[in-house]
Amino acid sequence: MAGEINKAVFPIAGLGTRTLPATKVLAKEMLTLVDRPIIQHAVEEALSAGIRELIFVTAEAKQIIRDHFQPNVKLERELALRGKQELLETVRSIPPEGISCRYVTQHEPLGLGHAVLCAKPLVGDEPFAVILPDDLIYHDERTCLQQMVEIYREKNANVVAVENVALERVSRYGVVETVSDRDGAKKMKSIVEKPAPDEAPSTLAVVGRYIFTPAIMALLETTPSGAGNEIQLTDAIAALLGTEDVYLCEFQGRRYDCGSILGYMQANVEYALRDEAIGAEFQSYLAELVKD
Ligand code: UTP
Repeated sequence: MAGEINKAVFPIAGLGTRTLPATKVLAKEMLTLVDRPIIQHAVEEALSAGIRELIFVTAEAKQIIRDHFQPNVKLERELALRGKQELLETVRSIPPEGISCRYVTQHEPLGLGHAVLCAKPLVGDEPFAVILPDDLIYHDERTCLQQMVEIYREKNANVVAVENVALERVSRYGVVETVSDRDGAKKMKSIVEKPAPDEAPSTLAVVGRYIFTPAIMALLETTPSGAGNEIQLTDAIAALLGTEDVYLCEFQGRRYDCGSILGYMQANVEYALRDEAIGAEFQSYLAELVKD
């Protein structure tokens, strides 16, 4: 039987150059989507899939993220004094009781693979999830990580989330060649980082959700720096294929690239339209605006 996935790693030590100047000082994961920061959406997805331990790989400059997941005693006292019970519960439950938050610093942005490797001492010898908060994925019933955990439980193997992208966009992603197992489930046969459209093995692109067995850490330790002098997670996944299965989760849901300004704005509009408190009013406002 597959071991439970208790830990999720959030690599959030990147520079965020695509969202400058907004992210000159503010970590991009702290940009808000409607009423909460992007990182909180990612954490909520992890919790939905049964994760109990959150491991943030941060850069030194991202103290603000630690602050967000720690009690704010002064604010809580003020809310209590003013009788704002509901708001008090909301801020107190970030994170909910029983969930632990741990932090490790990536001192230099040496790549996503290096960021995941930084979490090794905290992950230990167990399977774990990796969530890139920039890739925000919405589904009204089953989150992407829930869908992936189901595959993990069934196959007891690595799982990565993939999405069909337009051919002209494949050069932005790791793109996979697939093969079916004897039950017809799709596995990765090979992976190419940022291929030209005429060299891509398919249009299935890896997006920011992974479930790994501990074997990936040993491979990351021996992965040399690749493109951009960074340790690429894709290279370690390619090496993993030599010894283990990597299943694909063609998830149900809508993905937004919140690491780009356009994707972030689209996410904000669509999340606002779905929001219980402001959705209806926001929709009328947009309808009026478009009419004009
Ligand atoms: P991106 O490719 O989005 O890079 O990283 P970035 O530096 O964050 O942003 P841009 O492209 O300059 O705007 C994908 C994920 O990997 C993390 C990022 O924080 C993001 O969650 N990452 C990347 C690290 O944690 N460390 C790194 O050295 C690189």
